[in-house]
Amino acid sequence: MKKKFVIAVDGPAASGKSTTAKGLAKKLEYVYIDTGAMYRACGLYALNKNIPLSDLEALKSMLETIDIKIEYSNSGNKIFLNGEDVTNRIREEEITKISSEIAVIGIVRKKMVELQRKMGENGGVILDGRDIGTVVFPNADFKFFMSASVQVRATRRWEELKARGVEISYEEVEKELIWRDKNDSTREISPLRKADDAILIDTSNLSIEEQVEFLYNYIIENMEKK
Ligand code: DC
Repeated sequence: MKKKFVIAVDGPAASGKSTTAKGLAKKLEYVYIDTGAMYRACGLYALNKNIPLSDLEALKSMLETIDIKIEYSNSGNKIFLNGEDVTNRIREEEITKISSEIAVIGIVRKKMVELQRKMGENGGVILDGRDIGTVVFPNADFKFFMSASVQVRATRRWEELKARGVEISYEEVEKELIWRDKNDSTREISPLRKADDAILIDTSNLSIEEQVEFLYNYIIENMEKK
């Protein structure tokens, strides 16, 4: 692949977007940027510093000192928050919830979008998130929006958590997912939304390999037009 495209992959939680984006990045030898991990790192920072999300002044100073780095590697990216490896910590349930809560705050989004645009400015990147095709890179070369039914997504998330040894019921996972869908898609600033020109993919009956293959083939077939 000679051209260094910007590829946007958006969708709700557990829609398969991050695994697909990762697989596609490997195939194209592109950099994968998990923007959700950045909001997770913000949430963790606020929690560590005991900053209530209603305290905008404190959040503002927090954003001045926050340093989020992604270390790219084929075996999986690592996320560093002010020098500390928080890759595993940010996947914990309490961080999942606070990441969605902190992501509604304008000053937080402004800072993250700025960082994401910088990370992607030279192309050769795949970013996954909620607002990549609509806000972060509205002129992205390729835009995909992945979705699946709540039941399919909750089952995926539940199995993932069980495999990690987390004890949680299916019902609880489904409830959390429905809450997060609503919170992410009804917020005022940059809500989760399919860009008008994004390709919609329902992953309910697709394997990860099929998803990666679909995106890859679509890009190869349409790259000459870009
Ligand atoms: O993709 P994820 O589940 O790791 O994202 C965690 C939260 O971060 C998600 O509930 C909403 C927020 N988020 C966002 O608002 N915009 C993005 N581009 C990515 C994530």
